[in-house]
Parts: sequence; structure tokens; C-alpha cells
Amino acid sequence: MKEAIALLKKNNLLKIIDDELDINLEIPHIAYIEIKKENSKALLFTNVVDKENDKKFDVPVLMNVFCNEKSVKLFIGDGDKIGNEIESLLKMKPPTTLSEKFSTFRKLFALKNTIPKKNKGKGECQEVIKLGSDAKLSDLPVLTTWEQDGGPFITMGQVYTTSLNGKMKNLGMYRLQVYDDHTIGMHWQIHKDSNHFFHEYKKAGKKMPVSIGIGGDPMYIWCGQAPLPIGIFELMLYGFVKNKNAQLVKSITNNIWVPRDNDYIIEGFVDPSKMKIEGPFGDHTGYYTLEEEYPFMEVSAITSKKEPVFLATVVGKPPLEDKYMGHATERIFLPLLKTTAPDLIDYYMPENGVFHNLILAKIKTLYPGHAQQMMHAFWGVGQMSFVKHALFVNEDAPELFEHEAITEYILNRINIDDILISKGVVDALDHSSPKFALGGKLGLDCTGEEIKELGITLLADDELLFKIQSITSEVKELKQYFTHTKNPVTIVTVEKTRSQKHLFENLKTVLENIKILIIVDAANQNDVNNPYMLVWRVVNNIDSNRDIYFDSNTICLDGTNKNSFDNFKRRWPDDVDCTPSVLESLSERGIIDIDDEFKKKYQL
Ligand SMILES: Cc1cc2nc3c(=O)[nH]c(=O)nc-3n(C[C@H](O)[C@H](O)[C@H](O)COP(=O)(O)O)c2cc1C
Repeated sequence: MKEAIALLKKNNLLKIIDDELDINLEIPHIAYIEIKKENSKALLFTNVVDKENDKKFDVPVLMNVFCNEKSVKLFIGDGDKIGNEIESLLKMKPPTTLSEKFSTFRKLFALKNTIPKKNKGKGECQEVIKLGSDAKLSDLPVLTTWEQDGGPFITMGQVYTTSLNGKMKNLGMYRLQVYDDHTIGMHWQIHKDSNHFFHEYKKAGKKMPVSIGIGGDPMYIWCGQAPLPIGIFELMLYGFVKNKNAQLVKSITNNIWVPRDNDYIIEGFVDPSKMKIEGPFGDHTGYYTLEEEYPFMEVSAITSKKEPVFLATVVGKPPLEDKYMGHATERIFLPLLKTTAPDLIDYYMPENGVFHNLILAKIKTLYPGHAQQMMHAFWGVGQMSFVKHALFVNEDAPELFEHEAITEYILNRINIDDILISKGVVDALDHSSPKFALGGKLGLDCTGEEIKELGITLLADDELLFKIQSITSEVKELKQYFTHTKNPVTIVTVEKTRSQKHLFENLKTVLENIKILIIVDAANQNDVNNPYMLVWRVVNNIDSNRDIYFDSNTICLDGTNKNSFDNFKRRWPDDVDCTPSVLESLSERGIIDIDDEFKKKYQL
């Protein structure tokens, strides 16, 4: 971490904050605001306290280490370049000329670096060793991020596990709730690799060893979130990208090997017969994930460097640090995705789609149904299967990240007939699906020709709102977007008193003026003038089997919060919002400087 801090400093990417600040809400709120700014920086908090327990830490806290594209390049490298290297390995053919032989040999020789190296003796992460009752989690400045959080959480923990027979190893990045000095929650979700290992131990009735790394090379944390298939140890990706082997040492009290340069290692065992309530936690969807049972680890040792740095992140509404981490992942994994979807040219997961809620994919369309074939391939592969809304365009489309141009392209090609609604695996964090981790999938095939006719009569916003309000007073505000395309989008806010299906039926006479109708609640800071946050809201809240309706000419997306009107049986979570008194206090002390426009833009 010290090297990372020096590198950030050298590149003018670090702000050092020496004010006394609390691990409870204050530090996370500052990092949350910083990461949303243009030219955001990493933050080093040097004067860290726990006001509630009247405690001062002598450990600094580093946040937003992946604060922008530049810092990602510093710590991970150029995503496109790494992706190209992977592609050239995947496409490697037997060499014919001498120079090809050299080049092939160089590539294969470099692969030796992918195997992590086991070192004898102790590592820097074991300069200080605390065992048993001396190993106290309260000695670490673990942050409580949001006011409804179930407690403090380690948010940048590298979780190292092995399969029961020791043959497979895994590094996963999961949040970890600190319950007390010696107990820590293991939030590996149902689809994740460590959870599969956990079930092997459970079946065998054996305790599962786990070690958690904090700090060290920031690349470890990126590897931990990379969606590699089970059985491929993420530290092999580290070795490949860094072109040097990860250097490991054995944990002191279990048999898990961990990178030697970590700042902290928390060791212990999970008893698979015991579970604890985990959460709530303000998550990267911008909603709280609600309480659920998860396994937990009993801590057997905490080891550290002599002068460790504590690394943490903050999640909530976008944009966040995972925007930058996710972008690198997207680039690096493109060639691997192409192995199952060969005609894929590119893909893009906008951060306000919270990654799995929205994906745009560009393909070389070769035959009818090609886009649908690729949609099913996506929904059938690893963590891509979590994708809820997939929009496919042809090779002649603009760059996927050119938001305005690509939206126009898509809107000029959406046909009701080309909409695929399916059902399958969704992210464990998805709150809108009628059942846990199982929900609707929407695929839009926009690879075809541009639509010729608009097919409706356009009205001005105030005329259309007046016409709607003369039918129902539930609709409060209205704004139309992309009226120059063949599918103008009408967004309305409602005070919801019934299922929106009934509202849609009532609006039949207005549908001659609307092609795509999107409904959101008038509450929850929704603002018809803020498309960035509207996209975030709508793709989060929709389950396509329940919330998309059609008339012969009009598509309606119900992006409202769901409740008994919708026959929704699960609990609907709250938005993740900042605590106003914390923002006020930080502003008064001159630690943050934001205006109402900023608050509104990101719906703090
Ligand atoms: C900031 C952040 C927090 C995350 N928290 C969790 C989590 O609590 N639980 C989880 O299962 N995945 C979480 N993930 C996603 C996993 O890191 C990711 O799915 C990873 O590929 C899992 O690795 P595995 O398949 O080896 O288990 C998080 C990702 C990020 C970027």
C-alpha cells in the first residue's frame, strides 16, 4: 500500500486528509462524494477515529485507489492491450517461420509467471502476529458506510479459499461484516466460487479455512472481482497481467497461502453448520441489500505489516470506484467472451446500468436470429448470465460508449416484434425479481434496418401531460426524449395507487402519441430531467416478465418501486442515501464542498 500511495502521489492522484474523521459514516461519505467528481482522486485519511467508542487508530485509511482511468492504468495496465495479449494467446497457431517461433516461445515462456510462487518463512504481512484472543477486529479501522448498514464492513477484502481436496484455489472480493472482535461474515453469494467450495466442506462436515487479505498490491483486489471460471485461480491472472509471479506465504493458523505483501491478513475457519444474519448493507446497486443468512468465520489470527495501511471502498449509487475497475474488466474479458460468442465485436456495460442490469453488445450479424442466439449465449455464460437487459446492435452502429449516438441508433430500430423476454439467473443483489436470484431477462434485437414510419402524432410535453392528466391525476410530470427518432421516449412520474398495468390501460387514447412510455415514482428523488439517474432507476427496478407491457404500437416500462399492487411478495429495499447531518457537518468543517446541483445530479 505504501508503494501504491507513493505512485498515486507521484501522479498527482492523491489527496491527504489530516482532519480527525470518524470511521462511522464520515470517511465513507467523503470518499463517496470524491469519486463522483470529475478528476476524482484517491484519499488518504491520516487521523482516523471511532467517535462512538472513543478510539483513535494509528493506521491510515486509503480509499478510491481506483479513482479514475489513469489510476487503473497505473495499477492494472491498459485494458485493451491486455485484452489483445489474451486474444493473441487464444488464437495462437503453430509457428512456421523462425520469427514466429521466437514470438510463440516468448509468449509461452511468459506464461510461467502465471503460477503463484510459494515462499518459505514469513512474509511482510506477518511482521506483526496476533493470535487467538489478541487478534481483535476492533483494532482495524473498519468503516460503517451507510446509516442503515447492519454494522461495520470490510469492503476491500481479498477472500482466499481452497476446495476441499485442496486442488482448486480461489480469490474472491466479497464484503465482510464485522460482528465482533473475532467473528466476520462471509458474503459469498450463491453463484460464487467460494460458495461452491463452502458446500463441499459442508457436505464433508469439516471446517473451512479462509484467509482475508487487505491492502498489498491494488491489483489483488481487481483480480478478486474478475469473473474467472471456477478452478482458475485469480492470482494466475495477476501473474499474467503483471508478468511476474504472485509471491505467497502460508497463513500462520491455517493452510491458505496469501500474497506476502498484503498489509493485513485475517485468518480463521468457517464452521459450515452455522449461519448468521448478514446485512443490511448499502450496495453498489444504489439500494440496500436486506438481511439474509450467510456463513461466518471465527478469527484465529490477524497478522500485519509493522506499519499497515487499511484499504477500503464505498459503494452506493453510481458513479463509483467500480466504474473504473469494471471498465478494465470489460476490456480484458472481451477476448474470452468472444470464445463463446465468436461474432461479438464489442460490448459495454454503462456504470449507471450497475453493470449486470444493462449491457450493449455489437455483433457482426450473419443470419436471422443471430442476435437472439448471442443473447442466449450471454445468459448462459458465467457471470454474464446475470445480465437483465441486453441490447444488441449491428457492426455499423456507432461506438457503444457514444451515449447519444448509440441511443439514437437503437431507438431507430426497436420493433415490438424483435423483443425477447425470457427468464433465468439474476444477480443475488437484484431486488426487483419476484424470486431471489431468478427473474426476467429482456433482449432487444436492434441489428435490423432503420424503422421507416414514426407511426404516432407527436405532441409537445405540456400538451401531452395535459392530455394524460385529463384522464388521470396520478401522473405528475412528463418529459419526452429523442423525439427526432422513430421511438421517442416519454418519461412520466406517478403517485402510485395501483398496478401500472391499469394505468397503461386507462391511457389507451393517449398511446397514439407515445411509442415508449417509462413510468417512475414521483417520490425517491426521481427527476424527469436527469436521464443518467433515470436509467439507473429503471433498469434496477424492472423485472421484464412483470413490468413490460405492450399495445400494438407502444411499449411501456414500469420502473416504479413494486409493492402489493404488483403482487410483489419480497421486501422492497430503500435507496442508499447520504445522511444529511453528516454532509452538513462535513461542509461546515470545510472538508467537503458540494452544492445543491451536485446533490441533485447524483441523488445523494
Ligand atoms: C466493490 C465490490 C464488492 C463486491 N461484493 C461482493 C459480495 O459481497 N459478494 C459477492 O458474492 N460478490 C461481490 N462482488 C463481486 C465479486 O467480486 C465477483 O463476482 C467475483 O468475480 C467473484 O469471484 P468468484 O467467482 O471467484 O467467487 C463485489 C465486487 C465489487 C467490485
